[in-house]
Amino acid sequence: MTNWPVLGMLLPLLTNLWQIHDFTTQVLQRVSGTGTFIGPWFTGMNYLMTCDPMNVHHMMSKNFVNYEKGHEFREIFEAFGDGIFTADSETWKYHRTLLHSLFKTRSFEEFLEKIVRTKVENCLLPLLDHVEREGVEVDFQDVFNRFNFDTICSTVLGSDPNCLSIDFPEVACERAFNEAEEFIFYRHTVPKSFWKLQRWLGIGPEKKNAKACEVFDKFLYESIASKREQLNKKDEKENDDLLTCLMREEEGKEHVDDKFLRDTAFNLFVAGRDTITSALTWFFWLVAKHPSVEAKILQEIKQEKEVKSQVYLHAALCEALRLYPPIPFESKQAIKQDMLPSGHEVGPRTTILLSLYALGRSEETWGKDCLEFKPERWISGKGGIVHIPSYKFISFNAGPRTCLGKDLSFIQMKIMATSILKSYHIQVVEDYPISPTLSIVLLMKHGLKVRVIKRD
Ligand code: HEM
Repeated sequence: MTNWPVLGMLLPLLTNLWQIHDFTTQVLQRVSGTGTFIGPWFTGMNYLMTCDPMNVHHMMSKNFVNYEKGHEFREIFEAFGDGIFTADSETWKYHRTLLHSLFKTRSFEEFLEKIVRTKVENCLLPLLDHVEREGVEVDFQDVFNRFNFDTICSTVLGSDPNCLSIDFPEVACERAFNEAEEFIFYRHTVPKSFWKLQRWLGIGPEKKNAKACEVFDKFLYESIASKREQLNKKDEKENDDLLTCLMREEEGKEHVDDKFLRDTAFNLFVAGRDTITSALTWFFWLVAKHPSVEAKILQEIKQEKEVKSQVYLHAALCEALRLYPPIPFESKQAIKQDMLPSGHEVGPRTTILLSLYALGRSEETWGKDCLEFKPERWISGKGGIVHIPSYKFISFNAGPRTCLGKDLSFIQMKIMATSILKSYHIQVVEDYPISPTLSIVLLMKHGLKVRVIKRD
């Protein structure tokens, strides 16, 4: 990339903003996977960018202690509060241990599975039946977003706001959450002094974000208050939602105040909502474009296997996640001086941008056919899933900060994909424009308009 005087590399970046992930992939390929990005001299936006799996392994696992999210990250992701995503060191360890103990139990898995299956039967399939009968087009991304918002509300807060319904209602808290999440990308693109000034003056996108956060926080704090009331009345027997579990587990501990619960809930909403929406939207688009893959998934569905034994569907989902990682980039900050395996020097406080998108499309890692959608590459000679280390298949992160919801996500995605594909053939509206959004989660800019056709 050309490094202009004063402007640094900003011009080529801006002219390619509409295809930023593909552009980054090409640039990184030209520099063998690692290079520097120099922003305009007055902004301090200088980064080291990489998609080299050895660098990933080094930062995420081998020398994990030297690479943190950092203070700047927490400033940009202000709405996350002190939750797990933005936390470092002891605070992160505390959250991680706590959430791990809740997530990794069989009863929580069963609780989530029940919520998803009920939502599919009571809302998703009736909605698709309606769409099919009316012969109208539907935005699958919107459908998944609504489905996942309801599911995450039920899982975390124990109540369902019913965003998914045939009249596609506008639900204030869902809208506010969408706006707050979309906004985060904005702070990545402008100098810190600029967005801080806007925030202080209460103008522009900062003003809109403040309003959205206020609405969503009100919704969370009200849910927390009513949960506390239920617990005080001791009529919580039926509840297995995360908020109730957290309150029960941590009863009497000082730091478990409403702010702690709000931050934990907010982080789980971000973790579990758009990520699954993104994965399913790209998956259904890819399947619609590859009839032979659809045929093989159907063949497996007909064998009525348990979710965990659906190898081909698992492979197809991994392949979609490789090509379209829901979180396309991550950033880390070095604490001390270090040398990456690629030979690049890292100074204290250097920000390193890791492109998960470019790594999923690296020819060196995935071979010459890296841009093709080929679930077969995930299936071993014995018919199982090939194990690929997480520093190469990075979509769920790697090392001690690996995604805590990976297994739960596969269960949910498989239930949803199986239920939909078993009953419907999905046809993407002809010539529909498909391009990614500029946001922290890789969604489709125009959604995914489809027609659903009932199978015989
Ligand atoms: C297809 C779906 C998903 C994908 C691709 C995904 C991917 C990721 C990635 C890349 C990270 C690291 C982010 C970072 O550090 O900047 C992460 C972290 C995390 N994910 Fe997921 N995620 C998914 C679904 C979920 C779900 C459903 C949950 C739970 C409700 C969840 C819970 C978490 C948590 C708690 C972390 C923080 C881990 C830590 O920092 O120690 N994820 N996920």
